[in-house]
Amino acid sequence: MSGQPQLPLSAPSFGEEEAQAVADVVRSQWLTMGPVTAEFEKEFSAYVGSTHGIMASSCTAALHLAFAALGLGAGDEVIVPSLTFVATANAVAYTGATPVFADIVSVEHPLLDPAAVEAAIGPNTKAVCAVHYAGYVCDMAALRDICDRRGLALVEDAAHAPGATSPQGPAGSLGDLACFSFFSNKNLVTGEGGMVTTDDETLAKKMRLLRAHGMTATSWDRERGHASGYDVIERGYNYRPSELEAALGRVQLAKVPDLTARRRELIGMYRTAVERMPEVGVMPFTAEADAMSSCHIMPLVTPSAEAKEALRAAAAAAGIQTSVHYQPVHTFQVFQPQPALPVTEEYYAREVTLPLYPAMADADVERVLAMLAALPAPAATTGR
Ligand SMILES: Cc1ncc(COP(=O)(O)O)c(C=O)c1O
Repeated sequence: MSGQPQLPLSAPSFGEEEAQAVADVVRSQWLTMGPVTAEFEKEFSAYVGSTHGIMASSCTAALHLAFAALGLGAGDEVIVPSLTFVATANAVAYTGATPVFADIVSVEHPLLDPAAVEAAIGPNTKAVCAVHYAGYVCDMAALRDICDRRGLALVEDAAHAPGATSPQGPAGSLGDLACFSFFSNKNLVTGEGGMVTTDDETLAKKMRLLRAHGMTATSWDRERGHASGYDVIERGYNYRPSELEAALGRVQLAKVPDLTARRRELIGMYRTAVERMPEVGVMPFTAEADAMSSCHIMPLVTPSAEAKEALRAAAAAAGIQTSVHYQPVHTFQVFQPQPALPVTEEYYAREVTLPLYPAMADADVERVLAMLAALPAPAATTGR
């Protein structure tokens, strides 16, 4: 062990303001989906430049609401990247539809490849789900063009992307629907929680119904005397968020610009240093793209699977937490059988995620860089 404290992969940025906001909700005695949720929905949707915001109990729930509102069911297909968290594909499957996995562009640009999407379209394709991996927005102009030409819905999985933007506008304003995560390791943290944004009023209404059991009035409507009874007009779910989460969300949202600026600064430090040690690997994306990204995680593509394992072992010995984003979803047992996705598989074989969070000191980044600089030189390739 290094003798230094463990350097975590990520950490939330909470202050007294968050504690106060939660205490205020507790004192109000109304803990479930109510006025604070409504305020957070308005503020969040305005922030991403979308008309409607529907908060849900998680991003997984938000994705399910989005796919359900699109009317997906058995026999339908949705094209998704495999380089994502399993929730993207599971949420498609919850509706009875089938996720169809498409490859990423390259290991240097690990985002859903529009050409692979086009090639995966078949007679049953109904939608495409673009994952803004690591907080870098997919090529939404190309995906929008494909979806418009082929009559498909376009959904953003923007779990990593509050604060991310693109030449076409902010993440959350680019698809027909967009889903965000506020899980504990995300850029905007409420513990559990998610949000769907959309400009489509019909879809928004449908998701509000499905979020709360398909009931025509919520308990908050009844509390305020706006309704005395209710009907159930859809087979809905309990995907209600809590007011505690929404209160955290409002405080965190106000911090997103500053927190994102710090994330970009830290990514800039990593990028400058890694460019000077090409033997340890390459950082995907570019400095220009960093400036528009929410910089959710710090991926490094090592030269080989062996180099990846050596790096992870050295980091563990130095008390530096690492992870891998992601084990490709198409390799999981529950989705078998699946065709190979060579670029996604190569990326997974070589990718390591290094610590990144706004409270990281410059000295913490330097500690990670020192560990990288001390890695043994890769063994000379002998050829076969
Ligand atoms: C790309 C992606 N999609 C969806 C999710 C699901 O988010 P949640 O944990 O809020 O359900 C995550 C969370 O890890 C994610 O990274």
